[in-house]
Amino acid sequence: MKKSLGPTDRIYPMPCPLVLGGTMDQADALAVAWIGIASGKPPSVAAALRKTRRTLELIRESGEFTVNIPTAEQAAIADYFGIVSGRATDKFADTGWTLAPSLAVAAPIIVECPYNLECKVTQEVDMGEHVLVIGEIVQSHAEEAILDETGEKVDVAKLDPLVYIAGSREYRRLGEKVADAFSIGRTVVPQGSHEDV
Ligand SMILES: Cc1cc2nc3c(=O)[nH]c(=O)nc-3n(C[C@H](O)[C@H](O)[C@H](O)COP(=O)(O)O)c2cc1C
Repeated sequence: MKKSLGPTDRIYPMPCPLVLGGTMDQADALAVAWIGIASGKPPSVAAALRKTRRTLELIRESGEFTVNIPTAEQAAIADYFGIVSGRATDKFADTGWTLAPSLAVAAPIIVECPYNLECKVTQEVDMGEHVLVIGEIVQSHAEEAILDETGEKVDVAKLDPLVYIAGSREYRRLGEKVADAFSIGRTVVPQGSHEDV
């Protein structure tokens, strides 16, 4: 038996990156759980930002932003970026977190976050209370310490990304590996064909 829960804005789980707008001199960032990859070619990300956010103003000024993934250990500071507005205070001065110049956009990356995306706004879609800011991902960075043995890809166990659970409003971390993706499905129907997402 299923219980119908009505219209909802919750999926489980959600990421919780910090989306940053502005420049090295004047930056603001906020926690954004409503975010996801929107295309592979060109690589794109879509972030749902409430129209009142200070960070959104800065993103609109330059048309650029960065996405910065905090670790589970960094939950307290990440949460701070999600409960205080840059209109009231300088969140970077408050937390001691620091900025580094990006390579391809004016918006800086957050040094303490081990994985970072540089993005250029390509579209803004009015969704009602929120706008969907869609950006092309033009560069990315990872701390060497979170790379796998090839040195080319992120090892998610080393990244240990912060995970947000809507509804119960709590932070979690990822659990253990379950199976190989694009592979385990073949054990169901061995001749199944593969199509890239
Ligand atoms: C876990 C968490 C997730 C959040 N997700 C979003 C989101 O997806 N979109 C959004 O506009 N605000 C979201 N917020 C709220 C903003 O991060 C918050 O209002 C922030 O203080 C805005 O900062 P700013 O005004 O300096 O930009 C979230 C907050 C938390 C704690």
